[in-house]
Amino acid sequence: MKDLKVRLIKNKRELDDVLKIREIVFIKGQNCPRECEMDGLENEAKHVIVKYRGKTIGCARVRFLENKAKLERIALLEDYRGKGFGREIMNYLIRYCKRKKVEEIFLHSQSYVKKFYEKCGFKPRGKPFLEAGIKHIEMRMETDS
Ligand SMILES: CC(C)(COP(=O)(O)OP(=O)(O)OC[C@H]1O[C@@H](n2cnc3c(N)ncnc32)[C@H](O)[C@@H]1OP(=O)(O)O)[C@@H](O)C(=O)NCCC(=O)NCCS
Repeated sequence: MKDLKVRLIKNKRELDDVLKIREIVFIKGQNCPRECEMDGLENEAKHVIVKYRGKTIGCARVRFLENKAKLERIALLEDYRGKGFGREIMNYLIRYCKRKKVEEIFLHSQSYVKKFYEKCGFKPRGKPFLEAGIKHIEMRMETDS
């Protein structure tokens, strides 16, 4: 994993790179409506960029809501999936949120990827629901804070 870098963005250019990944993965790849994907909440989020050998290949976003952290927009370009990189993103996000002393980390998982989040330590909560026309389920992890 030494060629993989997961970190917060440093500038506007990196935010643009992250938004490009989301355009490819969610808007083009999963037919998410643009207005749902680009929801106007970028300014209140912390953005994570994922680079492999210097190339931007993935992203994620974190929003802090009271004493909780919500993970959003976790994505890798197709060629870089299935290699353990997703787990590395999640490990980074969990460490980052724990440092911020939140009581709970949660996310809305697309149903097809629920197992991935379970393997990263999250548990489902409640019933499945539709978001951007896609079936989701809430997943959560308690922290020790
Ligand atoms: C979700 C995503 C980030 C996962 O990343 P990834 O690099 O493919 O996942 P990893 O290779 O790190 O997988 C970690 C583990 O989860 C499992 N896993 C990953 N995706 C899975 C899936 N869709 N279903 C079941 N298990 C899955 C892997 O088999 C692996 O298990 P193992 O450790 O026992 O071998 C990636 O598939 C992606 O970008 N998808 C498109 C965007 C998306 O749908 N994001 C989620 C929005 S809620």
